[in-house]
Amino acid sequence: MSVATDSRGRLEGKLAVVTGASRGIGFAIARGLADRGARVIVSSRDPESCARAATDLGGIGVACDVADDAQVHALFDAVASHGGADVLVSCAGLGGGRLAAKTDRAELQTMLDVHYLGAMTAARLAAEQMRARGGGAMLFVTSIWGLGGASGTLAYGAAKAALAHSVKVLALEWARDGIRVNGLAPGYVATDMTADLPDAARDKMLSRIPLRRAARPEEMAGPACFLCSDEASYVTGHVLVADGGERAR
Ligand SMILES: NC(=O)c1ccc[n+]([C@@H]2O[C@H](COP(=O)([O-])OP(=O)(O)OC[C@H]3O[C@@H](n4cnc5c(N)ncnc54)[C@H](OP(=O)(O)O)[C@@H]3O)[C@@H](O)[C@H]2O)c1
Repeated sequence: MSVATDSRGRLEGKLAVVTGASRGIGFAIARGLADRGARVIVSSRDPESCARAATDLGGIGVACDVADDAQVHALFDAVASHGGADVLVSCAGLGGGRLAAKTDRAELQTMLDVHYLGAMTAARLAAEQMRARGGGAMLFVTSIWGLGGASGTLAYGAAKAALAHSVKVLALEWARDGIRVNGLAPGYVATDMTADLPDAARDKMLSRIPLRRAARPEEMAGPACFLCSDEASYVTGHVLVADGGERAR
């Protein structure tokens, strides 16, 4: 008996919006979506790097700081002018963190603005477009630090934990509209965000990872594209951990 090949993992005809897509994990996911046939709207703050990434992928670049609601609205106006979103990947984010005693309100606010509040505005606006198109898929890039505690991650982890929680709430509320909502929780991925880690911190992180290495950003594209495609048509409200086995302990 031959195994039938099908096109459920393909994304032909879909319009995918990826925030934080100028480099790193977001760029790798945007490339994965484009390779699977999607038209990709590549977004990040810096107009030049965003336009460059869009050109690389044959997509459309739209600069947007997700911490600014007016810019997120403008991004989705642009998306509407291309027909409306079928897929949203919220990946914009920034690293950094201090011990709790040194973490002030401003740091908490910045992390929430960029990782969480911007993603929620994007989700609401994308959902309106997806409803009009009969459904869609959303993916929030959270982190293993949003699933468990780690010293020095108070603000970052809180914002990522909020995202992981919202995956479940949005999945429940929007299932009736044909909108699936999932999360991807990477462990240690070698990107600009982790490039400046002190050697001791890097060694400690690597020692906890059963696969004994950091992920390449491209290794996040497969899980992300799976969750955004019809291959995952019965998967919603799930946070997929891609951490080299770290949380298996
Ligand atoms: N690297 C890891 O080990 C790791 C692990 C778990 C989760 N993550 C998460 O994965 C996501 C991507 O991280 P990465 O490692 O790929 O980082 P990265 O290489 O530093 O890329 C970050 C991306 O986000 C964009 N960005 C930053 N602030 C933004 C804002 N306010 N509005 C819009 N875009 C913004 C950046 O472009 P501009 O500078 O042009 O805005 C860039 O495209 C983040 O959410 C991060 O928390 C990373």
